[in-house]
Amino acid sequence: MATNLSFGLLDTHRSVRHVGKLLVQCMSGARPFSSATHKNRLEFGDSTLASSDLNTSAKTLTRQEKLREDNIPFSSFLTDNFGRRHNYLRISLTEKCNLRCQYCMPEEGVKLTPRGQLLSTTEVLTLARLFVKEGVDKIRLTGGEPLIRPDVLDIIAELRKLEGLKTIAVTTNGMNLAKLLPLLKDAGLDLINISLDSLVPAKFEFIVRRKGFHKVMEGIDKAIEMGYDPVKVNCVVMRGLNEDELLDFVGLTEKKPLEVRFIEYMPFDGNKWNFKKMVSYQEMLDHIRQQWPDLESLQTGHSDTAKTFRVPGFKGQVGFITSMSDHFCGSCNRLRITADGNLKVCLFGNSEVSLRDVLRSGASDEDLLQIIGAAVGRKKKQHAGMFSISQMKNRPMILIGG
Ligand SMILES: C[S@@+](CC[C@H](N)C(=O)[O-])C[C@H]1O[C@@H](n2cnc3c(N)ncnc32)[C@H](O)[C@@H]1O
Ligand code: SF4
Repeated sequence: MATNLSFGLLDTHRSVRHVGKLLVQCMSGARPFSSATHKNRLEFGDSTLASSDLNTSAKTLTRQEKLREDNIPFSSFLTDNFGRRHNYLRISLTEKCNLRCQYCMPEEGVKLTPRGQLLSTTEVLTLARLFVKEGVDKIRLTGGEPLIRPDVLDIIAELRKLEGLKTIAVTTNGMNLAKLLPLLKDAGLDLINISLDSLVPAKFEFIVRRKGFHKVMEGIDKAIEMGYDPVKVNCVVMRGLNEDELLDFVGLTEKKPLEVRFIEYMPFDGNKWNFKKMVSYQEMLDHIRQQWPDLESLQTGHSDTAKTFRVPGFKGQVGFITSMSDHFCGSCNRLRITADGNLKVCLFGNSEVSLRDVLRSGASDEDLLQIIGAAVGRKKKQHAGMFSISQMKNRPMILIGG
């Protein structure tokens, strides 16, 4: 089973306990979780990876020295070999969830990491502080379902105190949102993305394998009422499931200040992805334009992942996350930390390094930054393409944090 194989690799990683060992691993260029073959390293045009005989640590230092010499106005540890500056960190707060979405959670469930191996509140905050000190100015809390973590309010309140952190965002399934939102806002939450894949209650339940449609709608309305603007609604579009609801979702933006974001279905371990189930951006756009031919394209920022549009006169807007048909790797500014403390430099790469183990070995900030810098330095130019990704071992999405 793909999931088990993937965990085999991750377990190997978890057994690496000491910073000494980790540093040696970095220095010897060992990349225990990378599935990159010599061929695809060359395909990516990544000369750093192709010359794997060289000493990675020495190369990393050279790389960072070079970046420093170039006087880049950003952390050399968070700048990769393609000049991408990683100022956006996503932290997964939990592997658990109160829903079981078909595209995210494998039908058979996932093996949860023992509690003691998950990042504690202090560890989450220590890492966040370090990244913010290096230039991260946006942190998104995700999961699993971040709002089921009991200390989520404390984490947000502590993050709020970090100088330099401009934006704190949460991606949630909305189940507990209506109840928690006033507290989240008080703690300092700036942005909310809420997942909703169907406007038909029975279909919602089929997709997420649980009840709760009305709670999510209540959460969306509460977010609007409390002044979040735009409230982003994430909708994973799957053929045969909800692609017939595209126009209804666009219709929602007529009166509500929502940004409905249609996400192309992506392959992860255990989610039974197949190309035929994926509805491409172009297909969605063509379909929507049949109803609203004057749909207008809106300007987006350099590292925005969504291509955004508005129907003239509508309050809200729609966006498309085109990771499969038209990736945005060139402007990627994201890093991820999983709930068990692994740094993941690419959502679609299985190369990971345990910051938790480094932290627990008593490493200094400088040690951590060396490990982070080496991982960022190994980030590939772009993902391997949807067909390769669908064959590759990775975690199930629920264990990554979207
Ligand atoms: C993994 S969830 C975690 C946060 C929260 N539980 C939620 O559902 O919003 C983060 C986002 O990833 C998206 N997602 C999960 N699996 C996906 C897949 N296979 N393809 C595209 N998006 C996916 C979800 O729709 C959600 O918007
Ligand atoms: S998408 Fe979010 S709500 Fe759905 S199973 Fe994954 S983590 Fe849970």
